Amino acid sequence: MEALTGYIAWLSKGQPVGAKVVGQGYVAIQPDRTPDAHAGASVYSQRCSACHGADGFGNGKFPPLWGPASLNGGAGMHRIATMAEFVRYNMPFGWRPNTLSRQQAYDVAAFILSQPRPTFRKNRLIAFPPIPGRTF
Ligand code: HEC
Repeated sequence: MEALTGYIAWLSKGQPVGAKVVGQGYVAIQPDRTPDAHAGASVYSQRCSACHGADGFGNGKFPPLWGPASLNGGAGMHRIATMAEFVRYNMPFGWRPNTLSRQQAYDVAAFILSQPRPTFRKNRLIAFPPIPGRTF
C-alpha cells in the first residue's frame, strides 16, 4: 500500500492539488437510441471476443468481462454510461480505439452488462487498519 501510494504521489508530482489534468476522466457520450444488447452481441463477437473470449471470461492476459472473476455489480464500470465511454475511447485495446460509434459502444456495454457476474456484497469488503499519515 505504501509503495502504491508513493507511486501515485510521484505520478502527480508538480501538479496543483485538485487541478484537472489533460486526459483526465472520460468524454461523456449519449446513445442515439435505447441501447440494444442484441446488436451489442454482434459488436462483441466481431470486435471484442478475440481478446476477451467468446465466453467473456478473458484468458489471463486480457481481463474477463463477465463470469465469476469479472467486475462485480458494485463497480463503477458496471454503469452503462461509464462502460460505454471507456469502451468508445479505449477499446479495442491498443489496436483500434476510437472506431466504435457512440451507439455501438452503448450496445456492446448493454450486452456485456446483461451477462452474469458476481454480486457486490458490501459486508465482504476487507477492512484495513488505518495507516499512519505520512507525507512524501
Ligand atoms: C487487443 C485486445 C483487446 C480487444 C480486441 C478488446 N479489449 Fe477490452 N481490454 C483489453 C485489455 C488489455 C484491457 C485492460 C486494460 C486496462 O486495464 O487498462 C481491457 C479492458 C476492458 C474493459 C474493462 C474491464 C474491467 O474489469 O474494468 C472493458 C469493459 C473492455 N475491455 C471492453 C471491451 C470491448 C467492449 C471490446 C470490443 C469493442 C474490447 N474490450 C476489445 C484488451 C482488449
